[in-house]
Amino acid sequence: MRIPRHLAIIMDGNGRWAEIRQMPRIAGHQRGVEAVQTIVEECRSLGVEYLTLYAFSSENWGRPDDEVNALMGLLGHYLRSELETMLRQRIRLNVIGDIRRLPREVAQVLKDTVARTAENREMVLTLALSYGARDEILRAVRHLGAEMLAGRLVPEQVDDRVFSGALDTRDIPDPDLLIRTSGEMRVSNFLLWQLAYTELYFTDSLWPDFGIEDLHQALGEFGHRQRRFGLTGAQLKDSADSEGEADH
Ligand code: IPE
Ligand code: IPE
Ligand code: MG
Repeated sequence: MRIPRHLAIIMDGNGRWAEIRQMPRIAGHQRGVEAVQTIVEECRSLGVEYLTLYAFSSENWGRPDDEVNALMGLLGHYLRSELETMLRQRIRLNVIGDIRRLPREVAQVLKDTVARTAENREMVLTLALSYGARDEILRAVRHLGAEMLAGRLVPEQVDDRVFSGALDTRDIPDPDLLIRTSGEMRVSNFLLWQLAYTELYFTDSLWPDFGIEDLHQALGEFGHRQRRFGLTGAQLKDSADSEGEADH
């Protein structure tokens, strides 16, 4: 199986999972956390180096207060309960998004977990929290503008690398594969800059139902994709052949 170096997932469908069962939406989010635990562990054992999970968008702040509060509670609980596993499995926690908007106690436990796991090298688990790609891009633009005003940067220096370095994802490569569950075929303001050449995979499974089999199916399809990055198929074949020759 070809394993993406960086896998990103839009974990969608928790609410519908619960509504179908006439349960409150938060019950779907609770089951969603269980799916997170399964997928994190499986990605780590498959050798995924970077796993990025879209857990709460900047637009999700607009949901009813009780749902937002319950999600924040679940998040704090998840982080506290997973610290031991992250340490044991040598997983480093990273966060992207505008975490200044998070409740103080959640921000604190996040900060602690990031610090406690900072030396771990097995896999980087990035949670996108209070994350919106347009917001991220705007924060980057403001930061670069301030650098220019301070005389530390000139406009001509802003290239792909400098811009990427001003984003929340500065320390992680672009995703190789994006999975979105729940049948929706949109990116909902996730990693707009970073997804430029990412392979996209959509499945009807609702996130709480998404398990190891579903993950393997997505990875199986990823293995059949030819990533061309704007080049022709023949060019890619030539460069693969010459790499092969270099091996001999
Ligand atoms: C994804 O599930 C989790 C979050 C956005 C926090 P949803 O809550 O969006 O579930 P649906 O899409 O309403 O079913
Ligand atoms: C995207 O799901 C955000 C997360 C999974 C955290 P949404 O449910 O918020 O997206 P839309 O509203 O269907 O586009
Ligand atoms: Mg949704």
